[in-house]
Amino acid sequence: MVDLSIKIKNVEFSNPVLVASGTFGYGNEVNELVDVNRLGGIVTKSITLHPREGNPPPRMVETPSGLLNSIGLANIGVERYISEMLPYYEELDTNVIMNIAGSSLQEYITILERVEGTSNYLSGYEINISCPNVEKGGLEFGVDCDLTLALTKELRKRTDKLLIMKLSPNVTDIASIAKAAELGGVDAISAINTVVGMSINPQTRKQNIFTGLSGLSGPAIRPVGVANVYKIFDAVDIPIIGIGGITSADDVVEYLLAGATAVQVGTANFRDPGIGIQIIKQLFEYCEEHNVPSIRELVGAIRDED
Ligand SMILES: Cc1cc2nc3c(=O)[nH]c(=O)nc-3n(C[C@H](O)[C@H](O)[C@H](O)COP(=O)(O)O)c2cc1C
Repeated sequence: MVDLSIKIKNVEFSNPVLVASGTFGYGNEVNELVDVNRLGGIVTKSITLHPREGNPPPRMVETPSGLLNSIGLANIGVERYISEMLPYYEELDTNVIMNIAGSSLQEYITILERVEGTSNYLSGYEINISCPNVEKGGLEFGVDCDLTLALTKELRKRTDKLLIMKLSPNVTDIASIAKAAELGGVDAISAINTVVGMSINPQTRKQNIFTGLSGLSGPAIRPVGVANVYKIFDAVDIPIIGIGGITSADDVVEYLLAGATAVQVGTANFRDPGIGIQIIKQLFEYCEEHNVPSIRELVGAIRDED
């Protein structure tokens, strides 16, 4: 019998496949079509203190093997998240991780404190310090070790739940940012958020996305994600959650071998919201075929000597 379960801090996951923030809504839109309880977990859309409309359209365009987006953190704000979403999460039998975004240290703190005071149903928080699409979307933290350390320490003081920092690939040295987060006391690192990209229509000579620069996701960025996980694995002793371009169990295995303990599926959900569950099934088959009794054996195994 294959064991797909993993543990991060004291949180048990039935399998290592989660769905990524912003690509699965609040987790409640597809529950007629998909049994979300079979997922390892759901990371919900970034929540800010106040509701946000996000950026004007057009804010999504397809590119070869990829998707460019500049949604700009459209979300319902923390108060509606507490009143409308948390009661739904209480009924779920999977891990729900709240993704938080902010434009200042205080905004992140206020959101976390507000939710900590109300809910026991969340497994933890993923802190988005990596949104490339809004001027103050946290990326100023995600490119600076000192700010990452300061933010992590402040949040750590305020919660015993799972605390995860989500990092950007749009930096010179992601490993040093990961180390700063580890020093500040996070339980895991998520990597990566989208890669800065741009697309221009040669006919109209106009940019295809309203904001011009936007975030590239999908299979096009998988090698970037895998490389970043590989670099972070060498730098820290905490678990890594690999993200970027995953569409199959083979992709998951690639991330695990590079050093990820778990993964998140993002853009692929737009084509098929049931893809995460299919991947879990394929992962089980992979392990059977390759005589892998526990998925945990694969983590970082690219480094193992024969
Ligand atoms: C349309 C869209 C919206 C996203 N919104 C968020 C978000 O609100 N917060 C966040 O941390 N990441 C967000 N992301 C980034 C994804 O969670 C993920 O890190 C990235 O897309 C790479 O994974 P993928 O290639 O599997 O999509 C978004 C991505 C897309 C495509």
